[in-house]
Amino acid sequence: MSMLSIRAATPRDRDAIRLVEERAFGQAGEAGLVDALVAAGDAIVELVAEDDGQIVGHVLFSRVFVEEGGKEFPAVALAPLAVDPSFHRSGIGGALVREGHVRLKEAGEALSVVLGDPAYYGRFGYGHERAAGFASEYQSDALQALAWSEAPMAGRLVYPAAFSTELAA
Ligand SMILES: CC(C)(COP(=O)(O)OP(=O)(O)OC[C@H]1O[C@@H](n2cnc3c(N)ncnc32)[C@H](O)[C@@H]1OP(=O)(O)O)[C@@H](O)C(=O)NCCC(=O)NCCS
Repeated sequence: MSMLSIRAATPRDRDAIRLVEERAFGQAGEAGLVDALVAAGDAIVELVAEDDGQIVGHVLFSRVFVEEGGKEFPAVALAPLAVDPSFHRSGIGGALVREGHVRLKEAGEALSVVLGDPAYYGRFGYGHERAAGFASEYQSDALQALAWSEAPMAGRLVYPAAFSTELAA
């Protein structure tokens, strides 16, 4: 019987994480984004899913800011989320997101944003309505947010530079 565990990523996981990201997305951009965010110190919560010692899933929450009235409110962005295609639909993506949220709340984080399919992220509590007031180059129905405590409803959403440099291709 296989044993799935969710744990914090360590520096030794970097190659395996690259592989999972590349396999899940079928391209190298997201793996490059992860490396750039981690190298820049922007990773806040980073988890891997391990099945019998093999890394089969990965999620990263990195630091973003909501800028309003000269103030910067720290939030996190969920991106990317990746599960090895041969392990899809067995709850691994969901387990990574939910464990990430538990750790973020424990760490005192108040707000998470994500750019993705509302049909998928809605199940974790994300909604476009909570993000509709943010100014962002990514503003669309796919931009969603989830707040655990008081956090701005409006302001400019500022992502780390890696999002535009690594995903530009
Ligand atoms: C999205 C992804 C992480 C989900 O991983 P997973 O481990 O298969 O997810 P879970 O098992 O927790 O959940 C599967 C459920 O989500 C649904 N789902 C998966 N991707 C979805 C999507 N893009 N939109 C809507 N629903 C989706 C599945 O249909 C399934 O539904 P069910 O529970 O009703 O059967 C995985 O499909 C993946 O790595 N995809 C490629 C990379 C990607 O698109 N990442 C997200 C970018 S924002």
